[in-house]
Amino acid sequence: MLEFKGLTKQFRDTIAVKPATLTIPDGQMVGIIGRSGAGKSTLLRMINRLNEPSGGQMLFHGRDITALKGRELRQWRNECAMVFQQFNLVGRLDVLTNVMSGRLFHHGFISSMAGMFSAKERAFAIRALDRLGMAHVALQQTDTLSGGQMQRVAIARALVQEPRIMLADEPIASLDPLNAKVVMDALRAINQEDGLTVVCNLHTLDTARQYCDRIIGMQDGVIVFDGTAKQLTDKAAREIYGAEAEEAFSEAMTSTTLRPSDKPEAATPRVVN
Ligand SMILES: Nc1ncnc2c1ncn2[C@@H]1O[C@H](COP(=O)(O)OP(=O)(O)OP(=O)(O)O)[C@@H](O)[C@H]1O
Ligand SMILES: [Mg+2]
Repeated sequence: MLEFKGLTKQFRDTIAVKPATLTIPDGQMVGIIGRSGAGKSTLLRMINRLNEPSGGQMLFHGRDITALKGRELRQWRNECAMVFQQFNLVGRLDVLTNVMSGRLFHHGFISSMAGMFSAKERAFAIRALDRLGMAHVALQQTDTLSGGQMQRVAIARALVQEPRIMLADEPIASLDPLNAKVVMDALRAINQEDGLTVVCNLHTLDTARQYCDRIIGMQDGVIVFDGTAKQLTDKAAREIYGAEAEEAFSEAMTSTTLRPSDKPEAATPRVVN
């Protein structure tokens, strides 16, 4: 269980996140929505302390995360795997090496840089790729992949960290609807099969409604909505998005919502244990 107690973040004159109090139980899939600048990324990045909170406290299973330093902080960051909009992979390296870089914390820096991953670790990385339907490209150079494939590799890298929480900041914002669906299906499957808590920022309403157990709506740094997809009525959504409501609603047709012209027979990840 992750608890925020008045967690806040201020950058110079901007209060990006006003004191936020909330509890996320283990195994929940949470979507954070809101217009640009609402504070979604800041809230997410405070969880792994990429953004240092300005005030308040965050607890994970009762342990004060806001107080961690040094190795304990590095360990916590490893326990919170993060998936980014732009994938953050090293394009000139092969897929398997990118995935194994998720083992850096477990492995020790020096031997990792020397490429000294054990056979066991390679097998672990291959299994993670296989869950995402990507084992067949393990030895391919990463920059030859499509965006959707790259994001699946990034998720495999996150999985080999053996995280306790998966954070995703707009994981599908750079993808076409079909790839967006494949990536969201993979995140949902990991959430359901492994019981992993997933917290993701999403810029489209339909995706949040379709995939998340719980939706948190932010506006100007404040959590203005916290409920289920069912509770997120069009009226509530319009209030969260304010002037950007029409955009959010029209984008709903271009995110994970497939149109007849999209071809669903393209690779679907096989997420099995
Ligand atoms: N490093 C920073 N320095 C100064 N201000 C920042 C910094 N990061 C974010 N902000 C400000 O904090 C506010 C919230 O930004 P944040 O990136 O969290 O919004 P967001 O909801 O993720 O927006 P988007 O949908 O565009 O990604 C914005 O006003 C932004 O300009
Ligand atoms: Mg953001």
